[in-house]
Amino acid sequence: MYAAVTLVILVCLTATTHADHHQPCHSPNMTGFMSAVKIKGEMRAFGAFTYDSMGKKLRFRSNESNFVNASLSLDLLMFFEEGVFYEIDSKNQTCEKKALQCTIHPLQIPDDARFLATVNSGNPSIEGEGLKINAWVGSMPFTKGRAGFYSMSVTMGCLPVFTMYLDETTVMFSLLDVENEIKDPDLLVVPSFCQGLPVEETPEGTVNSFLNEFM
Ligand SMILES: *[C@@H]1O[C@H](CO)[C@@H](O)[C@H](O)[C@H]1NC(C)=O
Ligand SMILES: *[C@@H]1O[C@H](CO)[C@@H](O)[C@H](O)[C@H]1NC(C)=O
Ligand SMILES: *[C@@H]1O[C@H](CO)[C@@H](O)[C@H](O)[C@H]1NC(C)=O
Ligand SMILES: *[C@@H]1O[C@H](CO)[C@@H](O)[C@H](O)[C@H]1NC(C)=O
Repeated sequence: MYAAVTLVILVCLTATTHADHHQPCHSPNMTGFMSAVKIKGEMRAFGAFTYDSMGKKLRFRSNESNFVNASLSLDLLMFFEEGVFYEIDSKNQTCEKKALQCTIHPLQIPDDARFLATVNSGNPSIEGEGLKINAWVGSMPFTKGRAGFYSMSVTMGCLPVFTMYLDETTVMFSLLDVENEIKDPDLLVVPSFCQGLPVEETPEGTVNSFLNEFM
């Protein structure tokens, strides 16, 4: 893990020296699993996601099974276009609706990301043993007055593999078992018990984002 951090820091430092003719690709609709790990070694969350790349909607629900010892239990429904999201508690049928101050998330490369390199994971010369990935980097809107960095790695078909956010806390998201479709569109619909809610006030100095939910 620490090696990965060092790599990303290097990546961030060298990124500006590369000329760039690439445009960030756009991920397709996807369903799969996502894990979020804090670099100090804490598993923050693991669960299933559903992503609508055109409508810019994302659902993430923690997997309640005990095989992952995650510290957070989350159910998030994000509407990046509208700039709002819901924190859902299905058991209690309650909901909070909040404004998004930052729309960065691990399923889409930001349009202003810089292409870094194409790299191989595993051994590309053995069939089935290699994964070719494109690495992208960029800076994030600051939290607490400092700029952060992200590094996103995607397959040639633009499926995200992992994304690392380096701020005062570092969080890494990994995606697993991705399928190129939305399997259950109802997951991207606001539950009836969440409808008609007012947007909660964002406290001064708070930046709401998908990432911040895992900090
Ligand atoms: C992605 O999903 C949305 C919502 O279900 C759908 O409207 C859209 O056509 C899908 N896009 C593709 C490329 O399948
Ligand atoms: C929890 O994760 C396991 C392993 O990936 C998966 O088989 C199961 O379907 C998941 N359950 C939910 C509710 O997502
Ligand atoms: C789960 O995590 C908590 C705190 O991170 C730790 O105290 C506990 O021992 C862990 N349990 C297992 C089964 O790993
Ligand atoms: C439901 O709400 C009650 C009161 O707010 C709370 O104590 C309880 O933990 C909640 N249950 C769940 C599953 O979140």
